[in-house]
Amino acid sequence: MSGPVVSIDTFGRLLRRTEQALERGELFFPEVTEWDSGRVAVGNALRYFATFERWPDSQQDAVDATGPVVLDVGAGAGRHALHLQASGRIVVPLDIDPVAVEVMRDRGLDAHLGDIVHHVAVAPYDTLIFLGGNGSLLVNAPDALMACARLLRPGGRVIAEVGHQSMAHGGAKVRVRFEEYASPWIEYAAARLDTFRTMVETRSEFRITGWRPYRSTTLVTITRTEAVAHP
Ligand SMILES: C[S@@+](CC[C@H](N)C(=O)[O-])C[C@H]1O[C@@H](n2cnc3c(N)ncnc32)[C@H](O)[C@@H]1O
Repeated sequence: MSGPVVSIDTFGRLLRRTEQALERGELFFPEVTEWDSGRVAVGNALRYFATFERWPDSQQDAVDATGPVVLDVGAGAGRHALHLQASGRIVVPLDIDPVAVEVMRDRGLDAHLGDIVHHVAVAPYDTLIFLGGNGSLLVNAPDALMACARLLRPGGRVIAEVGHQSMAHGGAKVRVRFEEYASPWIEYAAARLDTFRTMVETRSEFRITGWRPYRSTTLVTITRTEAVAHP
């Protein structure tokens, strides 16, 4: 029996169909998450289109704490970016999934396709946000932390939401399944949160300035301390 088609736009396809379900007035659209432990979890993908009042406290606090110019890394359908844009911030939503980028553009955002390591900023950002499970993109990739140093102004901040180990269903890697598709596996970051803390503390470019646990996630804030050369 053949396995799923591994595709970078699996999540975007799910978002597109979820948006259609939302337009039909449906209240639930399944998001199927698979763990390498064999466990499968089902959530409501409509949350990726939710407005501020329905976000978890961690995400409300993160977005409230952003500066005037924000990079939203792994922006999905753009729920946080839309709120930031409506509040008068300049926001660049970035995503590696071309269908997610299309969904965001259709919703009125100037979304960029790509990942943080290759992202080129017009001017330094005040804040980089990694929300909705995207702390994994930061905690698991030393290159991503270096990219943050390059993209932030001195005094600028990274705000990342990292899931707790209790949410890992006994697995170390996770991926999204939709129809015949699967996203690439992503390492779940919870187990590395303390390693990440040590890694940041040994770097002169950053200082940890916030470490706030919520029900199922921790919001980590790191501040860029000193000037680094921009190429
Ligand atoms: C679980 S969704 C979260 C979306 C959004 N932050 C939210 O909370 O609504 C994760 C998003 O990160 C994107 N992503 C995964 N790896 C990425 C990478 N290396 N660079 C940029 N985006 C990435 C996925 O395509 C997906 O849209």
